[in-house]
Amino acid sequence: MAVIGIESSAHTFGVGIVEDGKVLANEKEMYRIGTEGMIPNDVAEFHIANSGTVVSRAIEKAGVSRKDITGVGYTRGPGMGPCLHVGLLSAKTLAKRLGIPIVPVHHGIGHIEAARHFGGMKDPVALYVSGGNSQILKLDAKPFAHYRVLGETFDIGVGNMLDTFAREIGLDPAWGSTVDRLAQSGRKYVELPYSVKGMDFSFTGLMTKAVTIADTLSREDLCFSLEQTAFSMLCETTERALLLTNSGEVSVCGGVAQSQKLREMMEKMAKGHGAKFGCAPNEFNADNGGMIALVAEQMLRRNLDVALDKCDIEQRYRIENAQVVR
Ligand code: FE2
Repeated sequence: MAVIGIESSAHTFGVGIVEDGKVLANEKEMYRIGTEGMIPNDVAEFHIANSGTVVSRAIEKAGVSRKDITGVGYTRGPGMGPCLHVGLLSAKTLAKRLGIPIVPVHHGIGHIEAARHFGGMKDPVALYVSGGNSQILKLDAKPFAHYRVLGETFDIGVGNMLDTFAREIGLDPAWGSTVDRLAQSGRKYVELPYSVKGMDFSFTGLMTKAVTIADTLSREDLCFSLEQTAFSMLCETTERALLLTNSGEVSVCGGVAQSQKLREMMEKMAKGHGAKFGCAPNEFNADNGGMIALVAEQMLRRNLDVALDKCDIEQRYRIENAQVVR
């Protein structure tokens, strides 16, 4: 079965096509964030303008015909309402036109399952780090198979923190990835607020302090100190979760997992405890439709499709409320 997955929760409109766990295509168009950040309606308009092209491109790249597609999955949430609606509409249109079943997918489960799939892992402690989310998760069987949140941010996601910081100090482009690039040339560490409680953490105090001292040191050293502090907080809390759960596997996923520095720090921590470390290629750490298609294929195999008129979006869709199937 070839399954098409549609992702539109934030700046990316992504379409992936999967057949028997193999990703045949993973196409996307990404809204460029300006100094004003992401305005949901503007991003949704971008998605509307690009949705048809990206779907056609993915089908062409996969080398399948429309009649070969046997199911469609879409991101139900969490994410920005207007953006999620565009993905829902695209998925419903395909389901109706092609007469195929449709299934809603949790965005975070897409990231976690992609890391598990490509990292060759069974049941890892998962650090999920993106713009809107920063959580430490582990599969729990009861009362139904779901990801239990062991730790999470008290305020904003680490990706949101890095993006906002980039805008506040005037980096161009104003992305966390620019902070990550500059940090690679930083050498001097300046102590910044380190905020961890058990397996939870917070980032706003750290960001405010880093913005306040921005004129006192080089951009490179500032970005280096900010990343070093934030990523150390994530490693410490994930390490605590690893020891608590006795798991032999650790994964990292989500947009911020594109940082080589974070992956290296996490791998070092995992190996220090004799645990296996794994993550997906960066194409799947960034938002993409392929991860949604991977999960949708599994769900459709279990006949978890939903009637067209019951399909909806959920901006604050909590991961522990989403059923996990394998
Ligand atoms: Fe994401």
